Amino acid sequence: MSDISRREMLRNAALGSIGLGLFGTSAAAAAKSESILAKLIAGTPAKAKSMIGVPFEKHQTVRMAFIGTGLRGRSVIGEFVNVPGVQVVALNDVVKEKADQAKAIVEKANAGKPEIYVNGDYGYRDLLKRDDIDVVYIATPWEWHVPQAVDAMKSGKHACTEVPAGYTLQDIWKIVDTSEATRKHCMLMENCCYGWGELFALNLVRSGVLGTIVHGEGAYNHDLRYILFETKDEGLWRRRHHTLRNSNLYPTHGLGPVANYMNINRGDKFEHMVAMSSGAPGLFEYRDQHLAKDDPRMKENYICGDYNTGLIKTNKGRTIMVQHNVTSPRPYDRINLVQGTKGIYRDYPARVYIEATKANHQWQDIEQYKAKYEHSLWKEMGDTARRLGGHGGMDYIMCYRLIQCMREGLVPDMDVYDAAAWSAPGPLSEISVAKGSAPIKFPDYTRGRWTEGRTSIP
Ligand SMILES: NC(=O)c1ccc[n+]([C@@H]2O[C@H](COP(=O)([O-])OP(=O)(O)OC[C@H]3O[C@@H](n4cnc5c(N)ncnc54)[C@H](O)[C@@H]3O)[C@@H](O)[C@H]2O)c1
Repeated sequence: MSDISRREMLRNAALGSIGLGLFGTSAAAAAKSESILAKLIAGTPAKAKSMIGVPFEKHQTVRMAFIGTGLRGRSVIGEFVNVPGVQVVALNDVVKEKADQAKAIVEKANAGKPEIYVNGDYGYRDLLKRDDIDVVYIATPWEWHVPQAVDAMKSGKHACTEVPAGYTLQDIWKIVDTSEATRKHCMLMENCCYGWGELFALNLVRSGVLGTIVHGEGAYNHDLRYILFETKDEGLWRRRHHTLRNSNLYPTHGLGPVANYMNINRGDKFEHMVAMSSGAPGLFEYRDQHLAKDDPRMKENYICGDYNTGLIKTNKGRTIMVQHNVTSPRPYDRINLVQGTKGIYRDYPARVYIEATKANHQWQDIEQYKAKYEHSLWKEMGDTARRLGGHGGMDYIMCYRLIQCMREGLVPDMDVYDAAAWSAPGPLSEISVAKGSAPIKFPDYTRGRWTEGRTSIP
């Protein structure tokens, strides 16, 4: 184990006993008490105007800061430095070596000479005192997203958070309340919404070729067992969540794109969900096969079911299946399915069935539809995105769109209400599972404005 890993391991052990007490889950209480649950769903009345439709002020140059320069932080920094108009002014991590690596990426690309802030878990607050930052990108472990996004908005900066935005109902309301009070956007950087297949499917839906949309499916089915037991990076914090919550720990990669197909928060809304968890033998068996008998991790108790499957009903009567599995041997799959009255799209691999063209019950290759329905963002930028960007290019397109919206003074593609609605299945699935798969209502984060049609990805 390297020195960095050893130090991080000790730090995270301490965070395990302090941090999660601080930011921890209230789902158990909500599952036991209808009145607590009702309060958590209702939230608090709005104290400020909505952030729906609020454009960015125009920025010729977008001055960015990053909190968390681990694997994901450095990866998105590598995308942003290639987007015209970006200057990186400050970087924060609790591990100096990681911030140094990020600084080298920025300087090599001539995208700024960022100052580094390293001063423990709350060292990011020193960075937030600067008055030359337009937007802060947060790529830290899940327990830090809400406190850091809230502090960033309170210090007058727009906040971008990695996924999920939050994992308790109170915390999710907190980002909505803070965004409204501070007039700063809080955006969930859901890169999968910009995937080639997701934007192709969005075009199919919008063009009407799939007919009236009735059902969608999305997932995060990704064998992370090796990563979860690494003694560095996500292995230092992500596995712990499997000891704390029996829920869909990571709902937004699958759900965000489906929400876009269904105009969620823009004419439809998530009404309620039910969820079911399988048992959790995956991590136990993997651990027993791979760890020494005296390894301290042999004492951990994993409660998060290997499969968590949720069903969401929307106001307009649509259904959505959302699934999470990171602890079983299997190929990667986000499913990405959208079904309408005239046809269906499904990814992994990408395929369609469009009734009018062929009624033989066989999937059709998408080749014949590519030219017509490929999304304009991919037509214009696909080559650059594939050359420069991670995850097949979708990360570059996401970063490009954020900067384009900020430079041109547009409304962001995804706002705090999307961050909230897409993250909510984390705690809602936890409560539903604890109540024997009972239906749990979604909070209406838009406070009644979900009926309005409005912008999202162009
Ligand atoms: N959208 C995607 O495709 C994608 C991919 C990977 C990870 N992620 C998300 O990105 C986030 C980070 O994941 P990662 O893979 O980079 O993990 P990581 O462990 O590699 O990086 C996390 C970094 O945060 C730092 N950190 C911890 N506490 C901090 C604090 N209080 N202040 C500042 N820095 C702190 C750590 O030192 C580390 O460098 C997670 O939310 C994860 O879910 C998203």
